[in-house]
Amino acid sequence: MSDAYEAELVVDRRDSAADGVLALTLRHPLGEQLPAWEPGAHIDVVLGPGLERQYSLCGDPSDRTSWRIAVLREPAGRGGSAHVHEQLRQGGKVRVRGPRNHFALRPAPRYRFIAGGIGITPILPMLAAAQAAGAEWTLLYGGRTRDSMAFTEELSRYGDRVTVAPQDESGLLDLASVLDGVPEGTLVYCCGPGPLLDAVQEHCPAGLLHVERFAPKEQPEGENTQFEVELAQTGTTVTVAPDVSVLDAVRATGVEVLFSCTEGTCGTCETDVLDGTPDHRDSVLTDEEREAGETMMICVSRCRGRKLVLDL
Ligand code: FES
Repeated sequence: MSDAYEAELVVDRRDSAADGVLALTLRHPLGEQLPAWEPGAHIDVVLGPGLERQYSLCGDPSDRTSWRIAVLREPAGRGGSAHVHEQLRQGGKVRVRGPRNHFALRPAPRYRFIAGGIGITPILPMLAAAQAAGAEWTLLYGGRTRDSMAFTEELSRYGDRVTVAPQDESGLLDLASVLDGVPEGTLVYCCGPGPLLDAVQEHCPAGLLHVERFAPKEQPEGENTQFEVELAQTGTTVTVAPDVSVLDAVRATGVEVLFSCTEGTCGTCETDVLDGTPDHRDSVLTDEEREAGETMMICVSRCRGRKLVLDL
């Protein structure tokens, strides 16, 4: 994890994506190529000490000279989006890390894409990839108002594959119209606010759905227990108290671990599990990945038992 690409990139903020949404194009100051990425990938944007945010890459993966992200101004947020809108200057620099992908587009003959608001960002490059692969696909895209919905102009090139459904014009998204009776082999990709993802999850046959959450999923109530974590590379064993995260316990031993969101949504702290059974509490891993128990997000996940051995 420590070999993740990290650089200061130059900000171009001249594109406006929609009301309240700022599109940023980031380039290397010396014109160097940026790491390759695939649809669904995101980067960490380091805005200041203790202030990092994850944004999906929403440009063209074949363009290795620039990355594009889009940031919704969230007045009730924790300050990350306001910082981007107010402090990042045209031609200024910003530190970024990544890219990382927990929302990869799997090959399929048919896709149903559903996006809510700024959740369009990871979906946008997926549409281009699905189109290039010759897949049959549709997008249902909801938002508060038409003016608040980013990239509608770019989407117009796809014609009637795309349904733009602003809430003030057409009410809540008609999920049944896209999810009822989906033919076998269809994959459903959805990104947007929690209530939309929950509704899609309810409608969607198991195993077809891939979602990306910007906010942590609600976790079942449960008591935290104390357990031990052995760090295989350093040979240290540390006790994780009920009110301490594995991440904090590990960092207290002086071991450097990459992390960002600390709420189980970004995937930065993903760590290989060599032994023991994780108690997964993140919003990143799929059900199959949880079942496999080969990795865990140590910022939120814990241990089902007395001990974990981690590849740290
Ligand atoms: S730091 Fe983001 S998932 Fe752990």
